[in-house]
Amino acid sequence: MTVLVETIKEVREYVRNWRKEGKKVGFVPTMGAFHAGHLSLMAQARKDCGAVIVSIFVNPLQFAAGEDYDRYPRQLPRDLKMAEAEKADIVFSPSVAEMYPKGFATHVIQDKNGLPSKLCGQFRPDHFTGVMTVVAKLFNIVRPDLAYFGQKDYQQFLIIRRMATDLNMDVETRLMPTVREDDGLAMSSRNIYLGPKQRKDATGLHRALKRAEEMVNSGESSAATVVGEIRRVINRVKGARIDYIAIVNAETLEPVKEIKGKTLVALAVRIGKARLIDNVLV
Ligand code: PAJ
Repeated sequence: MTVLVETIKEVREYVRNWRKEGKKVGFVPTMGAFHAGHLSLMAQARKDCGAVIVSIFVNPLQFAAGEDYDRYPRQLPRDLKMAEAEKADIVFSPSVAEMYPKGFATHVIQDKNGLPSKLCGQFRPDHFTGVMTVVAKLFNIVRPDLAYFGQKDYQQFLIIRRMATDLNMDVETRLMPTVREDDGLAMSSRNIYLGPKQRKDATGLHRALKRAEEMVNSGESSAATVVGEIRRVINRVKGARIDYIAIVNAETLEPVKEIKGKTLVALAVRIGKARLIDNVLV
């Protein structure tokens, strides 16, 4: 049975008991509206850990004015059933007031030119401060041994790992592969914003990244050439607006001219009301 818990106090009680029983605590932070990507993180946590806790919290702090906070999908009963099928022990779904009571004033930031300033940070300036702040709070509430994140949000993973290291949080972060639809589209709770035509167009992101991968595998090392090809593929998709196409060092997220060593090819494209992101490591 998966137990729904809504207060911080109760989470702490469960975790304290698990610790007494000598169980490893695995944590999967989410905003809900589950798909197979979320479930893959839960399945890995279940494999690794004696106790699994999943949080569902649509974090207002990481949405800017005019973004999709109000229409972000919320479907707790369905999510609970899915978490139950993955044998999660607890779903922690706090209210906004529980997480941000009156007087809340502390935020987590990283250096001005650090990881949050790169890629998506150029288009969503305060987004990662909101993410770091909520994840720091969740880590302090749950105090997990292991926490699981998806490669689809690779920049988010790097930022959280940096935060955990810098603030000496006693948690090991794990990165899991991006789970895709049969046609290659990266699963996302935001894919529901796509109409049928847009949903088809959205496969262009994956197609472009596959093409980039092929080029690199067959010896192309000029980032500009690969970006040019990705742009060509995306531009064929009518109504797609490119936020960025970037080829960067996979540790620092600094742009590279020559593709060598561990490199991230990442893009953000808007189609209709949806802002879609995807990436591959080459
Ligand atoms: P959310 O978008 O719900 O994602 C929760 C976790 O699922 C993240 O680690 C994300 O990278 C992972 N995920 C999403 N789509 C995936 C896919 N197709 N394959 C594999 N993993 C995938 O990311 C957030 O929520 C929030 O920013 C959060 C970290 C919870 C802080 O509010």
